[in-house]
Order: sequence, then structure tokens, then C-alpha cells
Amino acid sequence: MSIQPEYRRLGTSGLRVSVPILGTMGMGDLEWNNWVLPEDKSIALLKAAWDAGITTLDTANMYSNGVSESIIGKFPVFSTERRCASASYQEDLPRSALQELELIAYCHYKGIGVTAYAPLMDGHLARPIGTETTRSKKYSSIKSEKPRLESDLKIIQRVQELSERKNWKMSQVALAWLLSKNSIPIVGANSTERLHEAIVVGKTLTNEEIKYLEELYEHRPVRF
Ligand SMILES: NC(=O)c1ccc[n+]([C@@H]2O[C@H](COP(=O)([O-])OP(=O)(O)OC[C@H]3O[C@@H](n4cnc5c(N)ncnc54)[C@H](OP(=O)(O)O)[C@@H]3O)[C@@H](O)[C@H]2O)c1
Repeated sequence: MSIQPEYRRLGTSGLRVSVPILGTMGMGDLEWNNWVLPEDKSIALLKAAWDAGITTLDTANMYSNGVSESIIGKFPVFSTERRCASASYQEDLPRSALQELELIAYCHYKGIGVTAYAPLMDGHLARPIGTETTRSKKYSSIKSEKPRLESDLKIIQRVQELSERKNWKMSQVALAWLLSKNSIPIVGANSTERLHEAIVVGKTLTNEEIKYLEELYEHRPVRF
């Protein structure tokens, strides 16, 4: 039996979301991207998510050019939650004057919920360096691949090291770190097993482990 997820209130809003939120960018049309799940597998994953207690989805109409949202629409229990989940918080922030970490601190201070998309760095934090998957191969040579710094590679190695020491999955180390920052992950789990692994209730990192993961991080400009 899988572990039950926890539910958190998003900031001071009335919106209560599951932890994690399931991202749906990887559900849709193989012609849009060869690593996404087709409709039958996506529906099976949505059902597995619901059965596991994951009640919140992240979606966008650009995923598979709308096919992702059409699939979600075929799973009626979720579509209600999906509308809630698409609520966003916008303030007239002096964004250019704020760095990423200041922005996060500002959000926590103002009671604005923070969600983190791609918490596994598109999969890089979930597999040892050099592991090839359909998705990694697709992006390894194209411009939209986010640049990896030397420090990123060292951090990925540290995630692997901690996962071996704690007998956790690498993805669980990354998600546990994120939860220690009070952000709610929007994870691209693409199988039932991975979905269950993304529920990291009871898995916490010590302050020393958190520092070990963070100390090499190099700041960079916010993407968008
Ligand atoms: N990426 C973006 O730019 C972006 C932008 C806006 C919103 N979002 C939202 O964020 C969600 C997640 O984004 P994402 O899929 O790009 O990033 P992610 O969650 O950081 O990475 C997902 C990838 O990690 C790997 N993975 C997931 N669980 C794993 C596990 N337990 N063990 C090993 N590998 C695992 C899989 O890679 P393999 O398939 O290679 O095995 C999967 O495709 C999206 O679905 C979307 O809702 C993303």
C-alpha cells in the first residue's frame, strides 16, 4: 500500500493542494514530444494519482498543444480540482529589482503560496549523471536544454550520494530538500511507481544535509 500524501494550504489562500502536485506536461501527444505519455497511459496515471490521494494537477494549454488538457477533461474528478489548481497569485512586484531568493522570501512573508515546477531539474536530479532516457536524449543536444554548470553536476553527485546513504531514491532527496523550503513541488512523475515515490511524507533532511546540498549552488537569473 502506498503512503498517503499530505495536503498543504497554498499561502494564506483557501486553496488546499496535495503534496506533490502532479505536472501534466508529460501527458499528451507523442508528435509534440517523443517522451510524453499517450492518452491511455496518461489516463491510467491520472487514475493512479487520484487513487493515491494526489488531488491537484498543474496544467497549461500549451502542453501537447492542448491534448494534455483534453485528456485531463476526460477524467472528471480531476477537472474540478484542476480549475482550482490553476488559480495563481499575482502582485505588482518590482520583479526586476528582486532576485529569486528574495522573491521567495517575499512570497512567504506576504502569505503567497510558492509552487516549484520541474523540481527534479527535468529529471537530472533523479538519475545519476550520464543516464540516458528518451527525454534526456531528446534534450541533450538542443538549445532549449537549460545550461548545466560544473557546480550543478557536483550537486547532482551529492544528491546521488545522499540517496545511497539514506537508501532513498535520488528524486526523493530532491523533493525532500524542496519541501524544507516550504515550496510545493509540481513533479513530472511519469509512472505509477514514480508517482508513489514522489510522496515523501516522513522523509526529512537534517540541517547538515540541506547545507551540503546547497553550499555549491551558484545563483543565476530567473528564467521567467
Ligand atoms: N519544465 C518546464 O519548463 C515546466 C514549465 C512550467 C511548468 N512545468 C510543470 O512542471 C511539471 C514537471 O516538470 P518536468 O517534467 O519538466 O520536470 P521534473 O519533474 O523536474 O522532471 C520530470 C522527469 O524526471 C524523471 N523522473 C520523475 N520521477 C522520477 C523518479 N521517481 N525516478 C527517476 N526519474 C524520475 C523523468 O525523466 P525521464 O522521463 O527522463 O525518466 C521525468 O520526465 C510539468 O509537468 C509541468 O506541469 C514545467
